[in-house]
Amino acid sequence: MAKIFAFLGEKGGSGKSSLAHFFAHGLGSLPKSIDAVVVITDPGDDIDQIPRRYYVVDGRDHTQLPVLLKTLDEQSEQLVVVVDGAANRVAVDAAMDKIADLILIPFTSAYQDATRAAKHLGRLPRAVAVPNRWPAHPSVKKEANELLALLPPDRVMGPVQALGKISDILHPLRYSRVATPLSRPAQGFALEVLHRAGIHPFDLHRRG
Ligand SMILES: Nc1ncnc2c1ncn2[C@@H]1O[C@H](COP(=O)(O)OP(=O)(O)OP(=O)(O)O)[C@@H](O)[C@H]1O
Ligand SMILES: [Mg+2]
Repeated sequence: MAKIFAFLGEKGGSGKSSLAHFFAHGLGSLPKSIDAVVVITDPGDDIDQIPRRYYVVDGRDHTQLPVLLKTLDEQSEQLVVVVDGAANRVAVDAAMDKIADLILIPFTSAYQDATRAAKHLGRLPRAVAVPNRWPAHPSVKKEANELLALLPPDRVMGPVQALGKISDILHPLRYSRVATPLSRPAQGFALEVLHRAGIHPFDLHRRG
């Protein structure tokens, strides 16, 4: 069985796609790289075929998603499957709740984003929230951190800061330019997510 991670959320623009790719990029950038595949589920997203440190597959037809995930799940014990969810897709949520090793719900420091994430956590008992695009400047950060009190503390991961180049990870012509500069923060994020799921990176290294 592969390991399955899903980045979900009701609110558009919270960072599901960016963090799904950032996580997979981090796994593929580790000194002993881990194979990861991002499953695109948003019918509005395009699929490109550029070489990356991870694979991308098309899961935009939701009727085929369970079969696709089952096929990927059976590929290898060492494979990490990363589902890039689409906003407000109850069917994807329900499928992921059954099979994912960890569900991640990114949210930004906007009040409405945090309250929605809190409600979403209530519906998905095994999910964790990821503060994303979190401010670094002390005065803004203090206010943002007050929002964290809206969520159960044991179900919130460490914040991912606002990263200037993260949008380029999704850009077919710019990926190669940001692959190296983003590899360190992406590795850190990937290891934190694995840790949160109780998975040791050694168990995912390619054998042989
Ligand atoms: N950590 C971050 N730092 C800086 N910008 C970010 C970060 N995470 C996401 N963004 C930016 O926020 C915007 C929305 O991100 P993204 O497309 O990943 O969200 P999404 O949840 O997948 O949206 P949708 O619901 O439309 O699929 C993008 O412009 C992206 O570059
Ligand atoms: Mg998206």
